[in-house]
This record gives sequence, structure tokens and C-alpha cells, in this order.
Amino acid sequence: MRMYDIIMKKRNGGELTEEEIRFFITGYTRGEIPDYQVSALMMAIYFRKMTEAETLALTMAMAESGDRLDLSGIQGIKVDKHSTGGVGDKTSLALAPMVAACGIPVAKMSGRGLGHTGGTIDKLESFSGFTTALTREKFIENVNRIGIAIMGQTADLAPADKKLYALRDVTATVDNLSLIASSIMSKKLAAGADAIVLDVKTGNGAFMKEEADARALAEEMVKIGKNAGRRTIAVISDMDQPLGYAVGNALEVKEAIDTLKGEGPEDFVELCLTLGSRMLLAGGKAEDSGEARRMLEEVIADGRALEKLAEFVEAQGGSRESVYHPELLPGAAITRPVTAPVSGYLNHIVCEEVGICSLMLGGGRETKESGIDLSVGLVLCKKAGDYVMEGETLAVIHANEEERAEAVSKRYLAACRITDTPPEKKPFIKGVIE
Ligand code: URA
Repeated sequence: MRMYDIIMKKRNGGELTEEEIRFFITGYTRGEIPDYQVSALMMAIYFRKMTEAETLALTMAMAESGDRLDLSGIQGIKVDKHSTGGVGDKTSLALAPMVAACGIPVAKMSGRGLGHTGGTIDKLESFSGFTTALTREKFIENVNRIGIAIMGQTADLAPADKKLYALRDVTATVDNLSLIASSIMSKKLAAGADAIVLDVKTGNGAFMKEEADARALAEEMVKIGKNAGRRTIAVISDMDQPLGYAVGNALEVKEAIDTLKGEGPEDFVELCLTLGSRMLLAGGKAEDSGEARRMLEEVIADGRALEKLAEFVEAQGGSRESVYHPELLPGAAITRPVTAPVSGYLNHIVCEEVGICSLMLGGGRETKESGIDLSVGLVLCKKAGDYVMEGETLAVIHANEEERAEAVSKRYLAACRITDTPPEKKPFIKGVIE
């Protein structure tokens, strides 16, 4: 079998066999097939797409490309959560301590930023000293002791996805249904949870811009999960504007902390309660969604969720001080307001552009090897539907270089559309697929 023939077959619109998919996944994982051939194949898949059978074969080949986590040493039903990625999506930072405080063991594997979207691990590294490089023993010990541990994708867990993810990030081949479904589900299957709750984003800031595509992605992932014997539920949520107000690593951590103090933005709180209640139901901790929501609200109100975050951060080497004093988190040198040029309704914010603004400030990676600046980003002051007066602040840019702040200020303004009439109100949660 030759990689060249596989690329050609897909380029010409053919359907790859399971054997061909296993051949390129195994070869790439072992370093026998170079990045440039896999990049070409990814681009061919991007344009030609994959059938359901190909997507399932790709998922299983990636899930089996390395070791699998054995979570049997953790008591209780393990429920994992994963988002397809968005702008300002700091959900795991608040949700993991919330559900852990309700008694669901959280043994989670998270990723880094991808394309214009951020990643949980990058955000968590805002806590000085925090590490996700845990041994398996430590990971399991932490979950049993405090109810929560998050680790990075180790080199031996779905290593094929780890390499492909980084390659897709820099070759404009992220937003393809089959590549996203197989990437997420291969990791989730290898990570060993009993049940999986997926947050599938749709809208301009998501990889799936159209709701129909997001629904198809959700259905595909739920099907893969069921075929693999895991209870899988997908929530479809809006990503037509950033989630909450903060975009950027440390800024999002601060907003997650505010949320655990009961001071979170409405859309973000709603998402945490929706996903969290599904997790509690899947984990057998609540009888119905009303009871589950009440339990989640209670652990916020009495401070148990915030304390759980502090315990978790400390257990992974980070400073618990920063949870109670977020001003200790990395901060940028420059803050610059972007003001409204006219009065009117903020009709629309081009969400992907906001993610790109954060990347331009240094909050994301340009190449596989780039470092990132945890302190930079944007804090929105107005969201779509809000009325704004001429000269009022639309958002505040947090930057470390004047030129970047200037460029982002122009770009952000260009991403905002101000009109005389308010935009149509759309539901934030667009559906649940079980
Ligand atoms: N999240 C993932 O884990 N993989 C993707 O391809 C996209 C989002």
C-alpha cells in the first residue's frame, strides 16, 4: 500500500477502506509517513469529505493508535464532557468543579487551542505552576481524593489524533465534520469514561457555522459513542457571538472564577447548568433535570464549587491563592477601550473575528511550535442585542504591545455591526441529541 495512492484516491472523491485508513494512521503515528503527505490527505478529505463508514474507521484507528486509559480504579460513573470549540469557551473551567462538587468524578483529558478557538489546558496554565503532565497513577489518585483531575493528551493516548490535531491547526483543515468527529471521539473513547456529554457549537465562531452541520456532527458523534458502547449525549449551543464576555486565557479563567462565585454571565451560566445537569443525570446523581440544576446552583451558592477549583488547581501544582485572588493571574500591560462610533443596537459581532483578534494579540499559536501569551485578550462590554451610545466602550483590549492593540482595535470595530433596530432573538440552546 502506498500513501500516494491513498491521497490520489481521496483527491478523486473515492471512499477509503478501513485498511487504507489504518495504514495511514499507523504510518503517521510511527513517523513513517511525513507531515506533507498527511497534510495533502487532510486537504483532500476537507474538500471530498468522508462517508459515515470512513469516519467510524478513522475514529477507531485513532482511538487504537496508542494506549487506553483504564479508569476502573475510580469509583462511580465517570462522565466526560467535550466541546467542539468556540470563542470564549471556558466551560470546563467552571463546569468540572461544579459537577465534581456534586459528586461526579471528573477524570478529564483536555486539549490546547485550535485554530481561532482556545483550549482548556492553555487556560489552566494561567495558574502559575499548574501542570497537566500527570502520571496515570497520580491522575487516578487525584480523582479519588478530590474528585477531579485534568490531564493533557499524553503522547501515548490517541497519539494519531495528537499529531493530526496539531497538523490540522496550521493547515486550515480543522472545520470538517468527519475530522472533528473522529478527533473528539477517538480521544473520548481512549480516555475511558462511561458516559460522554458533548457541547456542539454552531454559529460564526464555531467550526460548524450552520446549525444543520452542527446537528449532523452531533448525530455522528452520538452514533460513534453508541457503537463503541458509551452513553453519549450532545447539546447544541450557540457560538454566533463569544460565550460570556472574556476571550483570552487568563481573562477567561477570571470569568470562570466569577461564575463559581455566582457572578457569571447569563449565557455562560445557562450552558454550565444545561451541560452539568446532563452530566449529573448520566452519572445517576439526580432524578430529573430540575433536581440536577438545583444541585449545581447550590454548590455555587455555598462556595463548594469554588473551593473544588482551588483544591484541583493546588493538586496539580498551581497556586490556589489565584483562585481566591484572581488579580494574581497574568495581566497584560496595556488596556485599550474600543468605543462605538455611533449610537444604536449592537446587531452582530463576527465571532470568528474576535477569536482571531485574540490570536493577533498573542493568545494563540501561529505554528505548531509557537508559545502563547496567557495575559492578552479582550473583554466585551456589549453583546449582540445591547444598545450602545456613541463613544461608549464596546470592548476592552488587553495587550502587551501598542501596535497589536492598535491593529486589534480596528479589527474588532470592523467585526461589530451597529444598527437602528435590535437583532432577532435566537435561542441559546438549540437542541439536545440523545
Ligand atoms: N476539538 C477536537 O478535539 N478536535 C477537533 O478537531 C475540533 C475540536
